[in-house]
This record gives sequence, C-alpha cells and structure tokens, in this order.
Amino acid sequence: MGLEFLDIFEKWANEYDASVSGKDEQYREVFRNYNEILEYVADRSIGHVIEFGTGTGNLTKKLLEKELTVVGIEPSVPMRQLAHQKLGADVLVTPGDFLQFDTSLFPAESLVSTYAFHHLTDKEKEEAVINYGKLLQTGGKIVFADTMFETADSFADTIVQAKQKGYTQLAEDLEREYYTTIPVLKQIFESNGFHITFTQFNHFVWVLEATKQ
Ligand SMILES: C[S@@+](CC[C@H](N)C(=O)[O-])C[C@H]1O[C@@H](n2cnc3c(N)ncnc32)[C@H](O)[C@@H]1O
Repeated sequence: MGLEFLDIFEKWANEYDASVSGKDEQYREVFRNYNEILEYVADRSIGHVIEFGTGTGNLTKKLLEKELTVVGIEPSVPMRQLAHQKLGADVLVTPGDFLQFDTSLFPAESLVSTYAFHHLTDKEKEEAVINYGKLLQTGGKIVFADTMFETADSFADTIVQAKQKGYTQLAEDLEREYYTTIPVLKQIFESNGFHITFTQFNHFVWVLEATKQ
C-alpha cells in the first residue's frame, strides 16, 4: 500500500541526513529550509502526535524537544534503525505506513509527516484522509509537508527545468512518484470535513495544515 518506493530508502538511508543538509546539488532546492519546515510542522502540532514516514527521526526529535508525546510509523527497516540510534531505543518508531498502521496508537490530536505523502497515489491519499477523518476528533490536526505544485503546468515546467539543468535523477523522481497539486489536495481534505491552509517554503515544498471541523 504505497510501498512501491521502499527500495530507494533501503539504499538511501545512510546518506539521507547528508542529503537534507544540501550535499546533493540536484536536491538542494528540495531541502532548502529543511530545518525551518520541520520546526514549522512541530510548532503546529498539538497533544499526542503520530508521525508517518519518520525516516531518520529528524522531525520526531523536534517534536520531542517541544515536549510532545510522539509515536513514529515507518515502513523501512534501516530508517527505523537510524531513527532509534538518533532518538534512543525507548522512543516508539513502529512498522506501518500511511494506510496500514496499528489503530491502537490512537487517540491522537495531531498526524504529521514531512517529505513522504507523495508515496501515495491521489486515490490512496483520499483513502488515507477518509480514514484519518474517522480517527481524529473535532479540532484534530493533520500537518504534512511535502512537494506539491500550484498547477499541473507548474509541475510539468519544473520537470522540464530539471532536465535542462541536467538534474536527471530529480527529473526521474518527479516523473516516477505521485506528486500532486494543491487544488487536488484541497478538494480531498475539504470534501472529507477538514479546513485546510497551505504555506510555501521553497520551490517544491509546502506545508498543508488541515483541521477537522
Ligand atoms: C524522504 S524520507 C522523509 C523522512 C523524514 N520524514 C524527513 O522529513 O526527513 C521519506 C520516508 O517515507 C517513508 N515511506 C515510504 N513510503 C511510505 C508510506 N507508504 N507510508 C509511510 N512512509 C513511507 C520512507 O521509508 C522514508 O523514511
């Protein structure tokens, strides 16, 4: 369920923290303001937090520093190992993904994620949002940072520009995974009972903040 890209993370796990620090030129803009993005998501989280796609635990660490209680859900074994090394073995980072996870981890007031929701197709994104709408109480929040585009045309232009710059890996990534547009996400969340806002942090990444009505 949305796990077709897991191989990438098995290979990338050990280099991941270097990539987010801007080591890789192709991805430098994608990760520009990475710390500010994580900080912004953590600042908007309330109560008990469930984090999807924990990766190496960088957002989890910020959430814990804000004295929130957090459970991570991460499908990749090496990513979970790295998160545990960073956070300590007593921080709970469990197997699972956006669609299949242990519902006994609820109740939660916030569901958060950074750089991961694009692993789901738009249909799967809607399936996930319907499920989260059932699990959250009124006032419960979803705060997801991810690459998204204002229009299909700006998405297509970004791929053309990546190819022109010789960023073949970035272009392949944009064409392979399920990046979507803000109007599509707005429709998914609003038709399932959420009020939603979007805030941009670099050419690629926006944070969506959705509150259950
Ligand atoms: C680009 S990393 C982001 C890691 C971390 N959240 C961050 O911001 O640095 C994407 C993470 O999502 C995980 N992932 C991939 N498919 C997923 C899915 N269907 N559900 C949840 N997580 C997924 C990957 O294993 C990886 O750890």
